[in-house]
Amino acid sequence: MDRRSRAAHTQYYDAEASRYDESRGGADRARATAEAILRLAPPAGTDTLHLDVAGGTGSISAIMGESGFRSHVVDGSTGMLVLARARGLPSVCGDATALPFPDAAFELVTEVWLLHLLTSTAAAAAVDEIARVLAPEGTAVVSVDKQVSHGGSVLEQDHQPVVTERLARHGLATAGTATFEARSPWGAADGRVQPMFRLAAFRRP
Ligand SMILES: C[S@@+](CC[C@H](N)C(=O)[O-])C[C@H]1O[C@@H](n2cnc3c(N)ncnc32)[C@H](O)[C@@H]1O
Repeated sequence: MDRRSRAAHTQYYDAEASRYDESRGGADRARATAEAILRLAPPAGTDTLHLDVAGGTGSISAIMGESGFRSHVVDGSTGMLVLARARGLPSVCGDATALPFPDAAFELVTEVWLLHLLTSTAAAAAVDEIARVLAPEGTAVVSVDKQVSHGGSVLEQDHQPVVTERLARHGLATAGTATFEARSPWGAADGRVQPMFRLAAFRRP
């Protein structure tokens, strides 16, 4: 999929919603992703607030909830959010580049497989918003190499330099990476059967 406007993405994901989970690796992919996030996130205490930006159907957040996080999903597609709400997740329709939440509201902010859809300008705004809603001593976890994972095309860049440089400018320090394999319809790099994805963590002092 190319980098279209938010309206075009909304229309695309509204139409995809009912088949999204199963066609993108199903429960196994969601669990592998959540486990990779959990390797990077500090352990959840009671009421640790997590925001899943572009969280889609909530398949990843539902698993984060099993580990004690109070996960909230924000996504631009109401069709995807119907499924997140059916999982019992607080879910809000909103734009990743202008999040409908106050500053410093969440101890964990995740953004998985959004940035490759955005223009450089929108990606920069989305990264700024991660930093804005992240609480002191909070952790942000972002997917950064969808292009490499799929052996992919120029249109699947994840704006990795934008993520690293802008979060550093906001005072966040790099805090490790986690990799995981998951089934995907988009193919795999290096002759793999399944792509190997990578998440990067950043911590606010
Ligand atoms: C590839 S899906 C990933 C969904 C989820 N993170 C997952 O891994 O299952 C991309 C998601 O980004 C959402 N999205 C696209 N552009 C957005 C924007 N500007 N603001 C908020 N959500 C957006 C889509 O509606 C879709 O749910």
